[in-house]
Amino acid sequence: MAESAGQPANPERLSPEELTRLQPGLARLMPEIANRLWRAVYAARAGNWRLARWQLSEMRKLFLLCAITRPKYGDDIGEYLHEEVEPLLAAVAAEDLASFELRVGEAVDSANELHRRWEKGFIVWKLPDQAPPDLDLTPR
Ligand code: HEM
Repeated sequence: MAESAGQPANPERLSPEELTRLQPGLARLMPEIANRLWRAVYAARAGNWRLARWQLSEMRKLFLLCAITRPKYGDDIGEYLHEEVEPLLAAVAAEDLASFELRVGEAVDSANELHRRWEKGFIVWKLPDQAPPDLDLTPR
């Protein structure tokens, strides 16, 4: 297709404002967060604690990205990391599956409570019944 009215097919550079607008908000980051938690839970259930720890620490980084690109959620995210994610990481460090499962239930309830608080009560996340199909969960 011909390039239209002097517009290059691909920009050589973007302005800082355009780059800012390109950063993902929660609608793009939340599915990645959910994916990480799904993986962490099934890794822990399989006894692959290293993988569970990895998934949770990547999940934590995604939350920190959310707080940077959408600062209005920063306080709630900070609290969520402290109240919900840190205990998950502690249970994984202790390789304590019973405590981990309990904490997962609380973390999911609390996430859905935050969805309600931010007027997104129609978004109710639940842990999938199946393990993620694309990861070999065998501990190694
Ligand atoms: C592990 C915890 C969490 C999970 C699994 C989770 C999961 C999700 C999912 C799957 C979506 C739907 C994304 C989409 O398809 O559009 C979503 C959206 C959203 N979540 Fe979460 N969430 C979690 C924690 C939180 C926390 C701590 C907050 C605090 C502010 C939050 C606020 C939101 C908001 C505001 C949206 C709507 C985003 C938008 O469309 O603009 N969530 N979440």
